[in-house]
Amino acid sequence: MSKILLIVAGGIAAYKSLELVRLARKDGLDVTAVLTKSGAEFITPLSLQALTENPVHQDMFSLTDEQSMGHIALSRAADLVVVAPATANLLARMACGLAGDLASTLLLATDKRVLVAPSMNMRMWLHPATQENVAKLRARGVLFVGPDDGDMACHEFGPGRLAEPEVILLAIQTALSSAAPGKTLAGKHAIVTSGPTQEPIDHVRFIANRSSGKQGHAIAEALAAAGARVTLVTGPVSLPDPVGCDVVEVETAREMQAAVMAALPADIAVCAAAVGDWRVETVHEGKIKKSPGAAPPLLHLVENPDILAGLARAGGVRPRLLIGFAAETQNLRDTAVQKRVRKGCDWLVANHVGVGSDVMGGENNQVHLITAHGVEDWPLLAKTAVAEKLVSRIAAHFAGELS
Ligand code: CTP
Repeated sequence: MSKILLIVAGGIAAYKSLELVRLARKDGLDVTAVLTKSGAEFITPLSLQALTENPVHQDMFSLTDEQSMGHIALSRAADLVVVAPATANLLARMACGLAGDLASTLLLATDKRVLVAPSMNMRMWLHPATQENVAKLRARGVLFVGPDDGDMACHEFGPGRLAEPEVILLAIQTALSSAAPGKTLAGKHAIVTSGPTQEPIDHVRFIANRSSGKQGHAIAEALAAAGARVTLVTGPVSLPDPVGCDVVEVETAREMQAAVMAALPADIAVCAAAVGDWRVETVHEGKIKKSPGAAPPLLHLVENPDILAGLARAGGVRPRLLIGFAAETQNLRDTAVQKRVRKGCDWLVANHVGVGSDVMGGENNQVHLITAHGVEDWPLLAKTAVAEKLVSRIAAHFAGELS
């Protein structure tokens, strides 16, 4: 999870930083806020703390803060320092290298990239002093987003309005992807299905399978670690949520399909779930009871929708890279090669789930990666290592596509 240090300076636009925090948290970013003295005239540390879910730092000489983490460390622990809103005063202090309060000290002490979202009266923005400061900061590598033109709180119209929180978030994502080594999938959205599905028979019984979700969850986590925004749609599993993913919990195949389609568009989809092929046509109200001498109930099954094949046919919203899994008990390679074509996916990860295999529920997996160009046999690996190898193949695919 990328870490943002957000400095909120004074100005009427400070309230928009709260919306920025909300969007950034939704996007999986960890935000720690620093509120300047004048910033605290506009918004409260309590709102920032509630939204960031982290302590808010205000004082340069706070004993508690210095005890738990030196203030300098604050500016180093972040992946990106964001100043939103940045006032003319703070820009001037940054340009001069002043360190009179916590915010300016952190900005002088940081070794990370700094993204600034200015907000001020249009005349202050256009003043040569401010413009010179901005030019100086740009020359030092400071990134800027905005200000926008617009109606201002002071009833004037012109440049100086804080960029919209959505736009600042985009700038944050771009800065993070160019700054962070290894974030090869930054800016990409990936959907991953994982785990089994449960198809109810009555209110107490269901049809399920042995899938643990370990492989799908490991892939989701590896995609998130590579910088992708990940929507993980999972059936019932007893695993913790993978770090940095938006998790949607479902039970049935139809619920899984609805959640996947709702998460589109996506650049990548990995269908690792063991989706139940059939469901009971009519779910019995309450519990099916035994009656003495009566025959066991007959279950009439109907086929579930095929989520992977549905994505392959999704037209304009088909993920650019669609990856399926194949769980086979015999004739793995040939069946999987045919399955890739039949399902209409780009790649297929095939594994053996027959007698003697501990793939379902186990820690390791031996897979074959089937693409349009052939079959790669991967060695027996931990499921986490399979996930990492697959994600580096995905990153290489997109890198090749770009070049
Ligand atoms: N799959 C799916 N929806 C289904 C069934 C399967 O999305 N209703 C996906 C799985 O997530 C996997 C791939 O299709 O990525 C292949 O699943 P698998 O169980 O191997 O194949 P099936 O299509 O079920 O065919 P069969 O059981 O006959 O081999």
